[in-house]
Amino acid sequence: MPKSIIAQGAEAKLFLEDNRILKQRFPKKYRIKQIDEKLRGFRTRREAKILQKLEAINFPAPRLISNDEKENLVIENVRGNLVKDILEKSDYKKLCSDIGKKVAILHNNLIIHGDLTTSNMIFNKEIYFIDFGLSFFSEKAEDRAVDLHLLKEGLESKHYRIWEKCFRCALEAYKKEAKKSVETLKRLEIVEKRGRYRRKGS
Ligand SMILES: Nc1ncnc2c1ncn2[C@@H]1O[C@H](COP(=O)(O)OP(=O)(O)O)[C@@H](O)[C@H]1O
Ligand SMILES: [Mg+2]
Repeated sequence: MPKSIIAQGAEAKLFLEDNRILKQRFPKKYRIKQIDEKLRGFRTRREAKILQKLEAINFPAPRLISNDEKENLVIENVRGNLVKDILEKSDYKKLCSDIGKKVAILHNNLIIHGDLTTSNMIFNKEIYFIDFGLSFFSEKAEDRAVDLHLLKEGLESKHYRIWEKCFRCALEAYKKEAKKSVETLKRLEIVEKRGRYRRKGS
């Protein structure tokens, strides 16, 4: 199968080839070359590390196939639809409970996703999370709370007709699954009072 481009974001191009995805972080001309290389390398390695951890805990995310430690990741192609495109036409309460439960599993494993939008989730029998480019390991309630807050903002902006029900279902499921949910939800209240967050590219 020839290589075809499937997406181009602010920092990476994605190609599909032989049912694998190449995620290539391309150079940014406006950055100083050494800094640009360092940053792309750091993010590529960090995303690879998170994907390996996710495989170890059997979390539904693309499997890492290879990593050049500089700018290229080869990952498994997850078939299915972006949750963004199907949420409104589906049993959205069920999907959002699944999302909440899975965010809790990430947090229980000290993983903060960093960009929890429905464009970074694929539905195929269950929800797979993708795009761990902004993910990191953390034990802080603050980081977990911001992750949940960004989920809320993403729902609000892309699914404004149903977002409240969606977020409620996600939080309910999160509470059941998360180990430190009391602390995290208390922190979420503080985060909400502080105001809006900027996500990448905005
Ligand atoms: N493993 C994957 N399987 C299937 N599609 C993917 C996969 N990774 C990314 N995509 C598609 O490419 C898009 C952009 O990839 P993503 O990793 O989210 O990069 P960006 O940082 O540009 O948002 C996704 O929204 C999705 O449509
Ligand atoms: Mg993305």
